[in-house]
Amino acid sequence: MKRRWFLASTTAVALATVGLTAACGGGQPTGDDAAAGGDEAGGGVLTMATSADYPPYEFVETAGGTEEIVGFDVDIARHIAEELGYELEITNIDFNGLIPALQAGRADFVMAGMTPTEERKQNVDFSEIYYDAKQTIVFPSGSNITSPDDLADKTVGVQLGSIQEKLGQELAEATPSIELAPLNRINEIVQELKSGRIDAAIIEDTVAEGFLANNPDLEAVEIAEEGPAGSAIAFPKDSELVDDFNQVLAEMESSGLMEELIVKWFGDAAE
Ligand code: ARG
Repeated sequence: MKRRWFLASTTAVALATVGLTAACGGGQPTGDDAAAGGDEAGGGVLTMATSADYPPYEFVETAGGTEEIVGFDVDIARHIAEELGYELEITNIDFNGLIPALQAGRADFVMAGMTPTEERKQNVDFSEIYYDAKQTIVFPSGSNITSPDDLADKTVGVQLGSIQEKLGQELAEATPSIELAPLNRINEIVQELKSGRIDAAIIEDTVAEGFLANNPDLEAVEIAEEGPAGSAIAFPKDSELVDDFNQVLAEMESSGLMEELIVKWFGDAAE
């Protein structure tokens, strides 16, 4: 029951699953038990934590009066859970809280377009990378920004706890007149940009494209940089799920299902 607060903003489907779990006497989904159950068909519930502010990876779809978390990551997670014989439960929290949630045993894995950085690898384990991305600067059309050099004297929005925040910090170290504005949700960043409270933002190309398509008053330019990129699934350290997940990811690659999902969610951005 102590997990209930944590699930407050999950989908109707996930809530139904929780009800079911509770009714069965609460087979413990998170922590070591869940992973250990993975021998044959898992038969338990896997809890995925995400930050559903990141279309098309994960976002809340409100069509039809119900709220549901959908997206590329969700489709992948559903497929993997099904292949491994688990029910899937999804919890929605701020990006900055995802790794702490894994460490506290409140989730079995995280899918959130998360990049496997060396720093994060000290605290969590990662699957193989399943999709690549690059960094872009997003800004109101006509701002004349062509490279990070043009961010001098500007306020730059980044998501709290993201690699974009890190990159922003590095840029601000080199150019101290850059003021960083760390925000919790990508939608807030886009709103702040549109209202002119910030001048630019650093966002992944795969996500920026969607926001640009819906906001013709915004533009983006790619940042040429060598940093870590791409998305992987994160697990608590030493989780036994990592190998099982990697195996299904590899099958999805070879069967063409991954490509199908990339086309479904990113259109022709398939690589
Ligand atoms: N790839 C970036 C990172 O790992 C940003 C991911 C943000 N994801 C999200 N669901 N908001 O730091």
